[in-house]
Amino acid sequence: MTANAPHGDTRAVLTNRQGHPVHDNQNQRTVGSRGPATLENYQYLEKISHFDRERVPERVVHARGATAFGHFEAYGTVGGEPIARYTRAKLFQTAGRRTDVAVRFSTVAGGRDSSEAARDPRGFAVKFYTEDGNWDLVGNNLGVFFIRDAIKFPDVIHSQKPDPVTFERQIPNRVFDFAAASPESLHMYTLVFGPRGIPASYRHQQGFGVNTYKWVNAEGATTLVKYHWVPKAGVKSLTAEQAARVQAHELGSHTKDLYDAIARGDHPEWELRVQLMDDHDHPELDWDPLDDTKVWPENDYPPLPVGRMVLDRAPENFFAQSEQIAFGTGVLVDGLDFSDDKMLVGRTFAYSDAQRYRVGPNYLQLPVNAPANAAVRTNQRDGAMAYAVDPGGSDPSITYEPSVRGGLREAPYPHEDVQGPEISGRLTRARIERTDDYRQAGERFLLCEEWERDDLVRNLADALARCDRVVRERMLWHLFMAEDEYGRRVGEKLGMTADDVRHLGPLPDRPLSEEESRRAANLG
Ligand code: HEM
Repeated sequence: MTANAPHGDTRAVLTNRQGHPVHDNQNQRTVGSRGPATLENYQYLEKISHFDRERVPERVVHARGATAFGHFEAYGTVGGEPIARYTRAKLFQTAGRRTDVAVRFSTVAGGRDSSEAARDPRGFAVKFYTEDGNWDLVGNNLGVFFIRDAIKFPDVIHSQKPDPVTFERQIPNRVFDFAAASPESLHMYTLVFGPRGIPASYRHQQGFGVNTYKWVNAEGATTLVKYHWVPKAGVKSLTAEQAARVQAHELGSHTKDLYDAIARGDHPEWELRVQLMDDHDHPELDWDPLDDTKVWPENDYPPLPVGRMVLDRAPENFFAQSEQIAFGTGVLVDGLDFSDDKMLVGRTFAYSDAQRYRVGPNYLQLPVNAPANAAVRTNQRDGAMAYAVDPGGSDPSITYEPSVRGGLREAPYPHEDVQGPEISGRLTRARIERTDDYRQAGERFLLCEEWERDDLVRNLADALARCDRVVRERMLWHLFMAEDEYGRRVGEKLGMTADDVRHLGPLPDRPLSEEESRRAANLG
């Protein structure tokens, strides 16, 4: 408080960013009370030019979202065995061991202020602040994805973004035009257009790593792994009508629900489970374990609990901790590794590339992104908004490595090298061999409860009715390819039958075989 503060006013004084007290925050400095304004108006110019720069570009996907903080607690075992048999990652080893986490939930296609009750997959990104540095598990709530090769990502997203001419949002004709020409997306659209396409809240959704990763044990032996988050609150979804009512009066319904729950002490919790598979290409399967349009059947690959996560803290500042938080699939710690999944490799470049553009080259110095529980000592230097000065060793002039004078040294590799399968092949551009785009989509349809099937059929038919005939026919053909009943029921609502689409290609003359139905009970 300044010496001449009005009597009794104990509030602190407003300053600018230079620490200068602001004496008048209502009037610019002008020549006379009616102007003109003067250019040396430092306080005004600073204020307005900072305001002009308040926004950073929103995320190109997953722009709308909410962050919360908490911890992950390990069980120390997997399927009754010590987890060390499969991974040496420290955060998993000891029962009861806790690791700080930040989680950002999101929708995908809408902009930063769009509705959270939209029909859209949900992002489920977890940052573990481990003692070995950060681990990010960047997933979604549906377990599969629209495409299996990263080169198609800009196209699938463009098909879901607003029309570039009218800016109308999510037009079925665009969405299903791409889907009609990309049948690998059928499994994902079967989920998106069913009830799970609109979760009731972020607390009531599952999470999945979706892509296949590897675990590495102390001997360097590798195992393929898929991650599942199971919500303690159960899975709840909204119908299209319920969602319309929610978004009529609140666009940020999911963020509000999350923060309200944390504020009243109802801390959301998920169990982390993993599916494990020997690390090779599994020729005995009719799908590829690296294909992210497929799930691994749960009877054959049971999800095994490895820990639980509790969220108990909302951000103090939305911009600093949610807008600027940065996740990426390349952010792994010792004991965790990539698989050769082509999507995963493609994603790994995209995330940090986007963040260097969106937040800036020093985004990893921001408190929410920095590895809170590990030391950073790097020879990376400078760049826009450099904040931290990383110690370069006892001689601060040595900003390179190697050096015979001092500086930093490489860490000894604690264990033997990773021992995965050896891979060889021709340089090529080719689809994976085992694609079957239809079976799991058809099985998924059969696995739904009756009300879920009704919801899916209604939502799909409503959307396809608004598409060009060429798109509608091709989509219906795909549905018949997946499962007779799926095609028949959507077709009925569109006034179409299998005979209307046979000219597009032969349709299998079958309901699912007994073997296929058995498998359908098994998708999880
Ligand atoms: C965000 C790229 C596939 C989940 C993003 C961002 C990019 C991106 C550029 C914005 C990052 C930022 O600005 O901070 C890609 C590419 C993909 C792909 C190129 C395919 C090749 C997927 C898949 C999933 C996924 C399969 C789910 C398993 C997410 C999530 C976010 C995100 C959850 C938001 C992270 C946050 O909350 O900040 N993605 N993505 N993405 N992506 Fe992907």
